[in-house]
Amino acid sequence: MDPGTALSRRSRAAAPAPPPRSIPTSHPVQASYERPLAGIALTSLLMAVDVALDIGTSHTRLATSQRGVLFDEPTMVAIDTNTGVVVEVGHGALDLVGRTSRHVIVFRPFNQGATVDFDVTSRLIASLFDRAGVSKMSRARVVMSVPSLATAIERRALRQAAIQAGAREVSLVEAPLAAAIGLGLPVQDPVGSAVALLGAGASEAAVISLGGIVTGATRRLGGNDVDAAIATSLRLHLGVVVAPSVVEMLKCTLGSALGRTAGLSEVVLARSVDRGELVEVEVSAELVNSAAYDVLNSTVRMIQECLSDTPPDLSQDVSARGMTLVGGQANLRDVDELVATATGVEVNVANQADLVVIQGLQACLEEMASLHALFRSADR
Ligand SMILES: Nc1ncnc2c1ncn2[C@@H]1O[C@H](COP(=O)(O)OP(=O)(O)OP(=O)(O)O)[C@@H](O)[C@H]1O
Ligand SMILES: [Mg+2]
Repeated sequence: MDPGTALSRRSRAAAPAPPPRSIPTSHPVQASYERPLAGIALTSLLMAVDVALDIGTSHTRLATSQRGVLFDEPTMVAIDTNTGVVVEVGHGALDLVGRTSRHVIVFRPFNQGATVDFDVTSRLIASLFDRAGVSKMSRARVVMSVPSLATAIERRALRQAAIQAGAREVSLVEAPLAAAIGLGLPVQDPVGSAVALLGAGASEAAVISLGGIVTGATRRLGGNDVDAAIATSLRLHLGVVVAPSVVEMLKCTLGSALGRTAGLSEVVLARSVDRGELVEVEVSAELVNSAAYDVLNSTVRMIQECLSDTPPDLSQDVSARGMTLVGGQANLRDVDELVATATGVEVNVANQADLVVIQGLQACLEEMASLHALFRSADR
């Protein structure tokens, strides 16, 4: 079963055009080093493709200004280690997990919001560029999100991975800012806008005013850590191991940040730890909710930290205008109410919460394109 079942279905429905499942298989990263020849510089400029890219711990999204969201699939890459060729990315790579021969390995090149495998990340980006129609001749201008907690080295690695994949210009936008833009908040005004981004590997809260983050708080944890805690509880209390996709399904169907699902349960197929045989086990909502407790507690403390550091004038704005939750984990049942009760601020969950960052990056692209058009018209 697809681990991102709920998320993927929803996200795919949200994309304007369903992405093609077949992808080009070969991405010689080396080729991306080639610089455009002086004689074709003008042609390359005319072929400029603007790309927005949000690479996350669990999902990667790509959009272009003309075609909208083209890719919204798991951050996974299957590579043939004999030839170095990318066999599949996204859903295709996920489908190969546990079904490949020894020389094809499925990588997850992102963890806690940062790249953990530079070369694989670069190959993933090169595959996505192919989908977006970025050729070696194109002058790809890329806007990418980066968690505000990313270190200088992590930012440089991300930028370099995109350049190695063929990007000519890379601009990084901090994810909470991209989210606020995606929500249509007045980020340039002297008004406090509060967002909390709850992802799979990173969580961030920020108050934004005059185009920048005024106060922020971050944690390198998210939905993946909730899944890990549920898997640990299943092993400890029921003596079974289940597939990651099943763990995620249990979280989405039984989880409630306020424990309101108590009494519900799901029967799932699992492997017993001691004998290794397949068994059916009944998993209760209580098990899921108590496993999620620590991560949710830490997330709430992060949001409280951010709000308590906010200058008084902006605090008033936040009290009056509320806070918006974005990111996949914002879809966890009752999480908005949990945050509202803990902070005293009105909280709402964004529509298509997991797509808000890529929508913000897309808006940045459109601004960038119009600015470039201005420069070109002044350049005659
Ligand atoms: N309905 C739901 N209930 C609970 N969790 C959910 C739900 N839908 C999605 N999630 C979780 O949201 C997370 C994915 O969120 P998102 O796509 O924002 O993460 P990401 O961008 O890949 O990661 P990050 O930005 O942290 O690197 C997953 O952990 C997923 O299990
Ligand atoms: Mg994300």
